[in-house]
Amino acid sequence: MTDLQSGSDGVAVPDFYHYAKAPLATVQHQGDFLELAWPDGQRLRCHRYWLRENAMGVGGIDPATREGLLDPGELTEAMVMASVELTDVGDLSILWQPDGQRCVYHGGWLRHIAEGQHLPQSWLPRPRPWRAETRTGPPQRVALPVLEDDDALCDVLNDLIETGVCVLEQAPTELGFLNRLAARIGPIRDSNFGALWDVRADVTLAGDATTNSTANTGFRLGPHTDLPTREVPPGYQFLHCLVNEADGGESTLTDGAALVEALRDNFPADFELLTTRRWIFFNRGPGIDHRWSAPIIDRDCGDGLLPTLRAFYPVRAFPDMPDSDVAAAYEALRRFHLLADDPQFELTFRLGPGDIMCFDNRRVLHGRKAFSGSGQRHLQGIYIDRDEILSRARALNRARAG
Ligand SMILES: [Fe+2]
Repeated sequence: MTDLQSGSDGVAVPDFYHYAKAPLATVQHQGDFLELAWPDGQRLRCHRYWLRENAMGVGGIDPATREGLLDPGELTEAMVMASVELTDVGDLSILWQPDGQRCVYHGGWLRHIAEGQHLPQSWLPRPRPWRAETRTGPPQRVALPVLEDDDALCDVLNDLIETGVCVLEQAPTELGFLNRLAARIGPIRDSNFGALWDVRADVTLAGDATTNSTANTGFRLGPHTDLPTREVPPGYQFLHCLVNEADGGESTLTDGAALVEALRDNFPADFELLTTRRWIFFNRGPGIDHRWSAPIIDRDCGDGLLPTLRAFYPVRAFPDMPDSDVAAAYEALRRFHLLADDPQFELTFRLGPGDIMCFDNRRVLHGRKAFSGSGQRHLQGIYIDRDEILSRARALNRARAG
């Protein structure tokens, strides 16, 4: 193993991970590329400019920050590999001209690239679409261990990436507990609703002019995603139930990944309209004017695997498409929302005090049934962007793998 800070084997690498030795078997110089091979047949082709950029020190990677120092404007044809060889422990050694610098590249670090471990989707579980018939309820985990135990946190993050949802149970019903949870993951994403926001559903509030969100009324909230009014809507949402004494108001969850599959496979004309025709979303408020125009199934705003769903009718304001497409686009929209609320896709369950419903806000549609009687229901919520969830999950999964 390489100790990066002390450099115990003398070969530093361009990141802060530890790499086992992975001696190269051969290196061949082919024009601008080197073709590297390991004894088991694994191969990697590296362009000379990329190798020069990733030389530790000597104008390549800064040993302190592990970030690149080389301005692309300094990459020239004169920058050549004068000699290339393997060291006696199988690392790659290159003599660069015209500066005469000899640089050593750790075989284990090169190997992790050959195996694709540098790709954004590496060290993460793949999303697995689900329906109500394949899942009777969201994954459930006990909340408090997540505050102390990296393994417990890693399990939750993997649920959130694979399934898009996890319910943490037995959390203290203390105001602001979500701040303690967020501190284990990453920065909270703020919005005009505040960094930590309250959802107080009180039937008597329906129609109250003082509330700034449909969520704070007793109305039914159909399956939706929050803040489609933003260029990139919040990635993950955490809803902590503090009080739930109301009759009705059950929570719903629908996996948008499964919904997208069903639309693509069974209703291709609707799918085409939902992925191409744009709508303008609009958050209106005193001093607030957030707007964005995008399709309901937004493939330009995704993680490379799943699109972002923009589905919140309270803030969908205007069609942004030719007049001739509007009628068909509404029909496709109707199909989308009927399917999202169909029992074959939708889980329905009751949140109790101490439950934290965590979900991918860009993938999973959440909703709330109407209240059938009186009573208080108080939730607190936060958003944490997908970047933070994925970053923490990669680091924890990689640490877990050793
Ligand atoms: Fe919501």
